[in-house]
Amino acid sequence: MSPPTADAPSSASLHELRRIVPYYRRYRWRYVVGGLALIGAVLLRISVPYLLGSTVDRLRAAANDNAAAESLGLTATDVGQLAFMGGLGILVVALLGAVVRTISRLQVLGTSRRAVHDLRQSLMQHLLTLSPSFYARQATGGLMSRAVNDVQFVQSLMGPVFLYLAETGALYVVALSFMLNISPSLTAVAILPFPFFLWRARRMAAVIQRESRAAQEGLAQISQKVEESLSGAMVIRSLALEDFDLGRFQTHADAYRDRNLQVAKARARLGSGMSMLGSISVLIMLAVGGPMVVDGKITLGNFLSMTLYLQMLAAPTGVLGFVMSSLQRGAAALGRVGELFDEKATLFDPAPEKQKQHADGPSAGAIRVTNLSMTLQNRHGQERQVLDDVSFAIEPGELVGVVGPTGSGKSVLLQALARQIEVERNQIAVDNTDVLDYPLAALRGSIGYVPQEGFLFSAPLAENIALGQPDASDEQIREALRASQLEQDLDQLPQGTATVVGERGLNLSGGQRQRAALARVMLMQPQILLLDDPFSAVDAHTTDAILSGLRPYFDGRTSLLVAHRVATVQHADRILVLDSGRLVEQGTHEELIAKNGLYASLDRRQQEQAERAHDVDHPETEAE
Ligand SMILES: Nc1ncnc2c1ncn2[C@@H]1O[C@H](COP(=O)(O)OP(=O)(O)OP(=O)(O)O)[C@@H](O)[C@H]1O
Ligand SMILES: [Mg+2]
Repeated sequence: MSPPTADAPSSASLHELRRIVPYYRRYRWRYVVGGLALIGAVLLRISVPYLLGSTVDRLRAAANDNAAAESLGLTATDVGQLAFMGGLGILVVALLGAVVRTISRLQVLGTSRRAVHDLRQSLMQHLLTLSPSFYARQATGGLMSRAVNDVQFVQSLMGPVFLYLAETGALYVVALSFMLNISPSLTAVAILPFPFFLWRARRMAAVIQRESRAAQEGLAQISQKVEESLSGAMVIRSLALEDFDLGRFQTHADAYRDRNLQVAKARARLGSGMSMLGSISVLIMLAVGGPMVVDGKITLGNFLSMTLYLQMLAAPTGVLGFVMSSLQRGAAALGRVGELFDEKATLFDPAPEKQKQHADGPSAGAIRVTNLSMTLQNRHGQERQVLDDVSFAIEPGELVGVVGPTGSGKSVLLQALARQIEVERNQIAVDNTDVLDYPLAALRGSIGYVPQEGFLFSAPLAENIALGQPDASDEQIREALRASQLEQDLDQLPQGTATVVGERGLNLSGGQRQRAALARVMLMQPQILLLDDPFSAVDAHTTDAILSGLRPYFDGRTSLLVAHRVATVQHADRILVLDSGRLVEQGTHEELIAKNGLYASLDRRQQEQAERAHDVDHPETEAE
């Protein structure tokens, strides 16, 4: 059987269950109640054939032999009543059985949902503690499939699969003991075809599950194709690729249809196979049990009960095939979910006494970086040194610019300072305390970090901006918007700050996203500001406007401002220049220009570019 997700199942054994036991332990009484109700329901179901059989025997006795009837205390008029009472008894038992069965289902299925809800919650909580280096090693799709599909498989393992196994198991045990009680030899013969059918059912179930999975993937491909065609409609039309694109859609659609037909075929074969089992059992009963009735070895009523028991057992045998492969699938999923839980968080809080000592986080904002080197691993396990022996110190309140060519390590440096990635002891100190000694939340609470990729949640703009400061007033939000120059864009938004933005809302432009991220940290009023190229998607004019809005805000805060334009940082107190992970120069704008090194050459190149752009925009100045 192929694994349910792209990841190979690591260990598909049920001792993985120990991992999820804690989630179910708190609901154990519900499982006990459910289990008892389940056994009760099975007993009640099994009594129906028994009642029917014994009623038939008593009726037969009454009809055949008046003396016997009298010995049973029956008169002729009582016979009708006997039949009626038997029927009524069966009805009551069947009704009671249905009620108890419903209770068992509600308990077990409901509890499995409750427990899996807890499991999902703590998995998510755990995932959030894992560091970016873990995510760099994992494909997001694979993680999603673990967090969503595999958890679903675990739920079906502890819900329907458990329920069905327990129910069918109990049914087999109870029905077989009733049957053995009637006639061991007849029972042995009658259940002969069962193992073969069970084996068939298991094979067919595996086929059905494999094909349905393939069909599901086919559907995903179709929707992906539709999305691509719709969003690429402009390109397709402009290149007159309609037929070609339709052809590609057709291929996916055909594959999807074929898979579904396979599923339907396999289902039909399984269904007819299982009704065969019922018929074969009746055949055996008639051939072997019939003569036994005639010979008086068993009564007619017993014969009838046994036939009904066999029918009762034949029905779930087909489903048992499904249950067995779900069991395997659930165990594999359990293994993969467990592996995620085994992944240790690498960004963690210090020992409690240290936490208490530094519970308030840094207050002044002096930063000292000492011999910071960093080697990161990408998804393919290749290592790469991204920071190489970087050392510098920043006084409280200083504004420090960081420039360097793309890929020189500016973002990684800021991530390390924001404790988004792991650093070692004695590499980074804030206010003369190693960053590893601060509680994570306290440290991050005093750092306003704007990542290079601004991210907005699907929520109103105001809510997005007040993320770090949920009790901010409208006026404060307005002020932050004004300083980050996002206010001027508000009339483009249909509902102003109440407009839902992000993935499922209005798509803000790259520059608008960056300014929203800036507004977010300005509202937070942190002691340390780490801004990772917040102007990369903003034009030079707006950059200047934002910078002048930010200026009062930089006062009294320690700020690191990464920029790809030298002009953005030229008024900073100091500028760090990174190249291939090394800190190659530092100083004021004037000092660095005088030095005529990397910074000066970056500056020259950018000025030339700006002039060329100006010439292109204003060719008339050239002509004059
Ligand atoms: N998680 C990671 N795993 C492996 N390599 C990484 C990781 N993050 C960054 N890198 C690599 O580290 C180097 C520095 O990246 P970084 O993002 O810091 O550059 P940058 O100076 O910010 O560039 P840009 O100006 O383009 O933003 C790059 O070569 C990048 O490929
Ligand atoms: Mg960067």
